[in-house]
Amino acid sequence: MNIIVSETQFIGKNLIFFKTLPSTNDFAKELIAKSKPKNGSVILAENQTNGRGQAGNNWLVENGKNITCSIILDTSGIEVKQQFILNMLIAIAVRQSVLEFLDDNSKKVMIKWPNDILVNHKKIAGILLENSLQGKYLQNSIIGIGININQNKFEKNINATSTYLEINKECDVTICLKKLFINIEKMYYHIQNEQYIKNEYYKYLYNYNELKKYIYNNNTIEAKIIGVNDFGQLLIEYDNKVIAINQKEIQYIIEK
Ligand code: BTN
Repeated sequence: MNIIVSETQFIGKNLIFFKTLPSTNDFAKELIAKSKPKNGSVILAENQTNGRGQAGNNWLVENGKNITCSIILDTSGIEVKQQFILNMLIAIAVRQSVLEFLDDNSKKVMIKWPNDILVNHKKIAGILLENSLQGKYLQNSIIGIGININQNKFEKNINATSTYLEINKECDVTICLKKLFINIEKMYYHIQNEQYIKNEYYKYLYNYNELKKYIYNNNTIEAKIIGVNDFGQLLIEYDNKVIAINQKEIQYIIEK
């Protein structure tokens, strides 16, 4: 694959492409350990044999049909306590990209906390963000992004979709990648504008301010998502209390 990205200032200018890799995030980590890759360097693989997801899960997709890449960002101006803002920023940019790929206003594209992207209640994209820290600042971040594009089948027990399944049409992965880079770069310039980022994130947050069912502590509960705190924990209002929740402590019951 030969991709020249001329539409951005820095994201994707240095693009390292592999037919197959265990994981683009792992490769990016190795690269950072032994060199000083340029800000915005991208590791792109057509296929991953050990793709990693959030919370120790795997990210399994069909060879050559989807976006699987990692972007190395210089995040040295960002305080550790702001790290969830970066998470929000990337989720907003990936959501915007998916919306553009679909090019169909009737599709609802939402962000499911912390950073899954859903179309019609099904997952179309996932983000794995890995930061290295220096004192009270981040140093650099590896932004691993998987977006399902032309895959037309998923295992039955997985609640997943792709742009192909949503619009019945194949998309050019290279064009999608460029749109993704442009959107991430645009959002990156807003990094110090926390209020703007929070507003955008809440605008598209799945189940925000709605009373919905969840599984929490092995019980089905009805609760309302009222926000996310600075540590990135989900804040839910339940039983007249506000509870801060970590990933894996809560399971969404998705009603389609
Ligand atoms: C999730 O669990 O939702 C996050 C999935 C992230 C997958 C991407 S694919 C490219 C990059 N390399 C990896 O090993 N994982 C991320």
